[in-house]
Amino acid sequence: MKIFIDSANIDEIKEAISWGIVDGVTTNPSLIKKAVEYFKNKSISFTMEEYIEELLKVAGIGHPVSLEVIGNTEDDMLGEAETLFAKFNNISNNVIIKIPVNPEIEENGTKHFDGLKVIKKLKEKNIPVNCTLIMSSNQALLAAKAGAKYVSPFAGRIDDFLRKKIGMTFEKEDYYPEEGLVIDEKVLNDDGIVSGVDLVASIKEILDNFNFDTEIIAASVRNARQVRELAEVGVHIATIPFSVIKDMVKHPKTFEGMINFMKDTIPEYREIFK
Ligand code: E4P
Repeated sequence: MKIFIDSANIDEIKEAISWGIVDGVTTNPSLIKKAVEYFKNKSISFTMEEYIEELLKVAGIGHPVSLEVIGNTEDDMLGEAETLFAKFNNISNNVIIKIPVNPEIEENGTKHFDGLKVIKKLKEKNIPVNCTLIMSSNQALLAAKAGAKYVSPFAGRIDDFLRKKIGMTFEKEDYYPEEGLVIDEKVLNDDGIVSGVDLVASIKEILDNFNFDTEIIAASVRNARQVRELAEVGVHIATIPFSVIKDMVKHPKTFEGMINFMKDTIPEYREIFK
């Protein structure tokens, strides 16, 4: 499984890359906001262009970086995608454009299909797309058919949605479904999906059934247990926040083992390293 870091914070990206485990980066407007606030608090100033150029250089050639459009009409998204790609892809040849699968924000609006239209047009222009805000298997199927290089199902947000639907109180980072939780499928999604990881597994099965080239980026990952389950499902990529990547390497018995090995090291053995 490839690991992308779900962050726009250059310090976090640099550090995670130094661990040799990062295959790419995903950003979104909220992550950019968080990263810019972090650097502004350190009194580091830059233009947005400079910041993104640096981020792309830090990620490096061969490590895709998703940058998201902000519009929600076909014309706006297409124009923004072309602007982002023209301005920034020459830095490290690694820009992927994030397009929402359904950019409509009104129930009865007319833009439900503008995301798919833009994906199709960008595919024709050889601009690679990461189709974002995927909350159902059907959305992923349509995005793959329209030509998305990646689809990003939001596992954590689906868990939040399902927990709320069944009246559970929870912390964002909690694991869901809880051990022993009996799920009444009737109160869940109409599509029968019972968790975020279940959604990813369903999309994987569908894309495999028809040999799509589209890769799945499991997104909105909230904890290390989800990462383990996503790897078991065989998802191509998980994009993981820095804090969760750090949790993945920790175990109390590893910590205890280190303390014991250090305590037991005899002087004769230590001598070898002098
Ligand atoms: C990445 O592509 C997504 O934008 C991100 O994983 C969303 O995560 P969140 O649900 O924790 O905001």
